[in-house]
Amino acid sequence: MSVSSCLVVGNWKMHGTRAEATALVDGLAERLAASGPVAVRHAEIVLCPPHPLLVPVGQRVRETPFRLGGQDCSSAPPGPRTGEVAAAMLRDAGCGYVLLGHSERRTHQHESDAAVRAKVVAAQAVGLTPIVCVGESAAVRQGGQAVRHVTDQVLGSLPPSVDATATVVAYEPVWSIGTGDTPGVADIEAMHAALRDALVGTHGPGPWRVLYGGSVRARNAGAIAAGSGVDGLLVGGASLQPGEFWGICEAVSLTRTVPP
Ligand code: PGA
Repeated sequence: MSVSSCLVVGNWKMHGTRAEATALVDGLAERLAASGPVAVRHAEIVLCPPHPLLVPVGQRVRETPFRLGGQDCSSAPPGPRTGEVAAAMLRDAGCGYVLLGHSERRTHQHESDAAVRAKVVAAQAVGLTPIVCVGESAAVRQGGQAVRHVTDQVLGSLPPSVDATATVVAYEPVWSIGTGDTPGVADIEAMHAALRDALVGTHGPGPWRVLYGGSVRARNAGAIAAGSGVDGLLVGGASLQPGEFWGICEAVSLTRTVPP
């Protein structure tokens, strides 16, 4: 059991109307009020809605401990980039974090490690903490190359100038995202240790925060978050259900509570 605080990040992906977002945040706020701040004393909770919902969600969470994050940003400063969102705009909208290099973007937008690396530079330049996502496909895992693939990906996705104290890495096996399938805790611990070794070897001692993501639910969150080297969780589908997401936050917080 660790006493360090834990990060729980809700990635809403491309979901939500303003009405749905309001209901979701109100559902979380009600649970927070009912269970008291003890439930989140050891967990920092970040909500990452789609861009159009950042401002209304930000207004709603202003009086709560919940923090705000974007799901992507441009590597370029504000300027002629139709359809893109600059890191400075996320900051202005109240974000403290931004997800970068999520596997869905690496797949559908063909984002390379180099593209993610440029976005990390842009995010850190304006004071956003990037949450850099990495993970292997089922084929890579079956081929026995998962550790090699994921460590290469993380090193390729971070610039030499990376500020370790303001960087989060999320290990998300692609085959686990949205499938209900998760690696065993020992596998997660092994991958987190390999990632941390690679980061320390290349960029220095850190401290590096490494999250796990992929089919996290209230029923498995405590066991995963209690794993050695697991500093938090990145939650997709379950973050859209206030009861389920709150169950995850509570389960994680308990793993960080010092026994009386
Ligand atoms: P999931 O998604 O929790 O629905 O598996 C995780 C993610 O893609 O960040």
